[in-house]
Amino acid sequence: MLHRIKSSWLRNLRIGYISGQSGIMNRYLNEGENWNSHLEKSKQLITEFILSRKPKTVRILGSGWLLDVPIDAILKTGAKVILTDIIHPRQIKHKYAHNSQVTFETIDLNGGLVFFIGNRKVKQINYFELANFINNSPLNQFNEDVVISLNLLSQLAELPLNFLARKQKLDDWQVEELTEEIQNRHLQNLPTGKTLLITDFEEEYYQDKKLSAVKPTVFVKLEDYKQLAEWDWNFDTLETYKEDYTTILKVKAVEI
Ligand SMILES: C[S@@+](CC[C@H](N)C(=O)[O-])C[C@H]1O[C@@H](n2cnc3c(N)ncnc32)[C@H](O)[C@@H]1O
Repeated sequence: MLHRIKSSWLRNLRIGYISGQSGIMNRYLNEGENWNSHLEKSKQLITEFILSRKPKTVRILGSGWLLDVPIDAILKTGAKVILTDIIHPRQIKHKYAHNSQVTFETIDLNGGLVFFIGNRKVKQINYFELANFINNSPLNQFNEDVVISLNLLSQLAELPLNFLARKQKLDDWQVEELTEEIQNRHLQNLPTGKTLLITDFEEEYYQDKKLSAVKPTVFVKLEDYKQLAEWDWNFDTLETYKEDYTTILKVKAVEI
């Protein structure tokens, strides 16, 4: 389990995940209603998906603060919910600790990449070994009736690979290649016919309301899946994510 390992790399990564989650909450609190339409759209699609399938069990991947999860609506259907994340906010664990419909599962959805990096010496890490690990990491068996991959796909590679790039273990092209491998592996992990995937796929940067630049966040093809919806997330209006620019995330929902 994540918390048992003592290596300083792993500790740093773990702190990265905790501060990443605090960062989401802080941004949400600062942006207020700018985030509402994105959160509501995510909740609406999940609710529709669940009401149309009437699952007994639902697994949410990347559940975090549940900002984008219609948790009350899901629980009202009587379904059991497995909240799945690499780290769960204390407040969320506390809130649902005594709810028999809710279970928490703490796993690295990158198949243990965090341990793999955290348990190695810096000089042992290289691009080829990482690529090999990612492509051969064990696939999860998600047996639930419905699986929701929720605003997670673009996040999976970010922390571990940026960490290694900062340590000068990876070049930009290697980060991009490995990001694609990680995202592909995630898609392979999702059970067909019962998964709803919601993800951002592009960042748009604006200055004086004019589009200045675009950066892709997803490198796998989502076009092959059934397209359910697409919308804009007013992610950062305060110009703190990319300095001097406001950022809009392009988001889409597909059925796997
Ligand atoms: C952008 S958030 C999604 C929003 C989230 N539903 C919320 O309301 O806070 C992405 C979530 O994915 C989790 N995550 C990132 N990498 C992960 C990994 N390798 N395994 C499992 N969860 C991961 C983060 O901890 C975070 O809670």
